[in-house]
Amino acid sequence: MSLPSPELPVPLAAAIETRLAGRAHVVLRERARLLSESYRARRPTFETIRDETDALAYAATRMPATFAAIVTALGRLKEESPDFAPKLMLDAGCGLGAAAFAAATVWPSVAQIALLDRSALFLCLATELMKECGAPAVIEAIQADFAEPNALAAAQIDLVVAGYALTEIAESELPAAVDRLWAQTSGALVIVEPGTPRDHARLMEVRRRLVAQGANILAPCPHAAPCPLATPDWCHFSVRLPRRRAHKRLKDAEVPFEDEKFAYLAVGRLGGLSPPSARIIGPPRAGKAGVSLKLCADKAFRETFIPKRDKARYEKIRRKDWGDPLRAPAEEI
Ligand SMILES: C[S@@+](CC[C@H](N)C(=O)[O-])C[C@H]1O[C@@H](n2cnc3c(N)ncnc32)[C@H](O)[C@@H]1O
Repeated sequence: MSLPSPELPVPLAAAIETRLAGRAHVVLRERARLLSESYRARRPTFETIRDETDALAYAATRMPATFAAIVTALGRLKEESPDFAPKLMLDAGCGLGAAAFAAATVWPSVAQIALLDRSALFLCLATELMKECGAPAVIEAIQADFAEPNALAAAQIDLVVAGYALTEIAESELPAAVDRLWAQTSGALVIVEPGTPRDHARLMEVRRRLVAQGANILAPCPHAAPCPLATPDWCHFSVRLPRRRAHKRLKDAEVPFEDEKFAYLAVGRLGGLSPPSARIIGPPRAGKAGVSLKLCADKAFRETFIPKRDKARYEKIRRKDWGDPLRAPAEEI
């Protein structure tokens, strides 16, 4: 099963570009600079996005990458649970709806979307973009703080996604926020975060908490045992996406692509799972004699070398990439 394209859906990219065309370039450039500064200082987006120009600077410079990471994580969930066909989806901390657009891309079954954010501005623009781009018929916008008790109604939602949102929650609020998102989920909960050591460590705390509550791990981990990676190593993945013209102009970027590093966790209440025997958790290193892989397997982390002379094994492995699951029996990898 191939992963979905990491590029923004064409109608969404066009809708963003039309809005950007109506704004002064120097102003957008300055807003994009401030946004990057805030992102590096880890200031919450809610404080950074003050008007529609800020939101459009986000749409041009960050949303393509967050969409790419989220759609890849959702693609990984689909690989593990091909029969899962969510109808009702919650995009928690939606921003401009990157996760909602990603879910609609991966599952045509998505018929109803709830967008939730603290920012009225983001909610308003996200709803406009979704309607304009022919996204599923029923869109509900909820202005709320998902870390607050009672922010979420008691509905059971097939698919809950929090994309680059938990990273903005204070450490002390994280457990309760995660419990609330899990309580909303009748199918799967997917959390996508920046691919940093800090966010990986937080995600592993979240993982421990969810496993203790009976969540099945759907991806990326091939097991539910404690994460075997030890500091300073951390589990993250990468997705390459083409840089759009607006991004290049606003950020003076010359390279025509960017590599977004992300960490993710997909858990669920879904049954009938057959987890892979391993997952590749680093870029494969190919050499003259064979290929080296960094694997999470057998409840442990290990490096493995598959020599070219071992033709049968090598043929099975050579096209695999960072993030791919391996379903070969353990002795073959
Ligand atoms: C970095 S943005 C990510 C937006 C979008 N999910 C994406 O991937 O492009 C984080 C979003 O989460 C929202 N957010 C952060 N904490 C929140 C909370 N406690 N309740 C609701 N929304 C929150 C922010 O307002 C912002 O829109």
